[in-house]
Amino acid sequence: MTINVICGYILFAMAAPNIDTIVSLAKRRGFVFPSSEIYGGLGSAWDYGPLGVELCNNVKQSWWRWLVYERDDIEGVDSSIILNRLVWKYSGHEATFHDPLVDCRECKTRMRADKIDGKCSNCGSTNLTDQRFFNMMFRTLIGAAAEEDDPAALAYLRPETAQGIFINFLNVQTAMRRKLPFGIAQVGKSFRNEITPGNFILRTREFEQMEMEYFVKPDAEHSKLVDEWVELYLEWFKGLGISGNNLQLHEVPEKELAHYSRRTVDIMYRYFPERPEEERQFEELMGIAYRTDFDLRAHSSKAVDSESQRINPDSTEDLSYFDEAGKQRFYPHVIEPAAGVNRTVLAVLMDAYSEKTNDKGETRVILKLAPQLAPIKAAILPLAKNKPEIVGMAKAIKRSLQPVLRAVYDDTGGIGKLYARQDEIGTPMCVTVDHQSLEDEAVTVRDRDTWEQERVEVAELAEYLQSRLKAAAPVQAAGAATSSLDI
Ligand code: GAP
Repeated sequence: MTINVICGYILFAMAAPNIDTIVSLAKRRGFVFPSSEIYGGLGSAWDYGPLGVELCNNVKQSWWRWLVYERDDIEGVDSSIILNRLVWKYSGHEATFHDPLVDCRECKTRMRADKIDGKCSNCGSTNLTDQRFFNMMFRTLIGAAAEEDDPAALAYLRPETAQGIFINFLNVQTAMRRKLPFGIAQVGKSFRNEITPGNFILRTREFEQMEMEYFVKPDAEHSKLVDEWVELYLEWFKGLGISGNNLQLHEVPEKELAHYSRRTVDIMYRYFPERPEEERQFEELMGIAYRTDFDLRAHSSKAVDSESQRINPDSTEDLSYFDEAGKQRFYPHVIEPAAGVNRTVLAVLMDAYSEKTNDKGETRVILKLAPQLAPIKAAILPLAKNKPEIVGMAKAIKRSLQPVLRAVYDDTGGIGKLYARQDEIGTPMCVTVDHQSLEDEAVTVRDRDTWEQERVEVAELAEYLQSRLKAAAPVQAAGAATSSLDI
């Protein structure tokens, strides 16, 4: 543990001690609220508040910039959430996207059979029902007059964003005149009727994914590519401020691989630091899978199985690729890095959390968010709220910064309290307007992490703040150095 002393406070540079600490901070300070709370809540549903939505957006924008803008080989799409039911038939999700389910006959708790040791996770009883399979896709009906049991009206909310990419492979490839290797990225909501959701935003029934399908030749070095993407994502997460000490790799055993995967490596985050090391401290943050040509073949009109039977008589398109150089037609293979927005946000919050305590035992929370992720970049604070000239100047500064960066004005407390509030929500810089500002047209800029203060001329403030934010921005750099994989 690193210990620094700042202004009489001792800084314990540490991550959050547990998820509950973040749940409490998140609600108190407007990051995440329990959903439908006034009606008793809804299972594990959560709503993102004013600061949470900014943090999520910043994570998604950082990811999009890193992959789609800074590399030359990745395009973006935004497909529908409700797709033709046949997509899920041929992707294999209708038949195989299920979890084993058991009920406890004693306390009626419902559990995933593969997550328990033959005993009820609630009461410890072994009096459990036989295991049965439960498909996790949310069902809905299309059409105002659709009957409950009309199979023609049945549709699903997507359980992964990936299929919206596969079914658009040919559209993107031809519209953008792409040659292999290239990737398609998508960020958006996915839905799974999880049997045991929980642990705040770690496992919910509605969540957001950032997925990218990277299409390569059948003879590419797939396993090496998985390793390369693992390395790139490790760097990306570190660029978001997550400590490498809290990240771990997990090679998914063959028997646990998803139906489409030949190899998957999970990047795990230490979401449960309070547990003893021998218990499970780490949980999946994202997975990087080698999906072979499974999905493109499965959706193709001409693909055949080992007995020369068409795999898909319903598809009207063949999603194969003609390689000009080799004069060959084939189904591209896929490396898929699939990350969760919500799990990334939780990891970012846990890692950014730190506390400072002074010799009177008073504790302050400092959220050391990477500045690019901070919901608010600068808070403009008047030293005296009863002085109209100071208030007017502070408000004018806030308005002038608005088009350049996210700034807020706050005069709802004394300066010490205002600083403490901004520290707790991770605002990297506070700008204080004082009596002298009226004379010298300068303000004090205070740093969240060092509490050091610097006097800056108002005319140069926007440029100064931007350069400070830029200097502290490792996020973009993470992917830029490796903008193209050489295959
Ligand atoms: N297309 C591959 C795929 O969906 P996955 O491992 O099932 O793979 C990818 O999901 C990521 O999506 C996970 O690593 C996790 O970050 C996120 N995720 C999956 N299920 C989730 C849930 N119920 N709640 C929150 N995030 C979830």
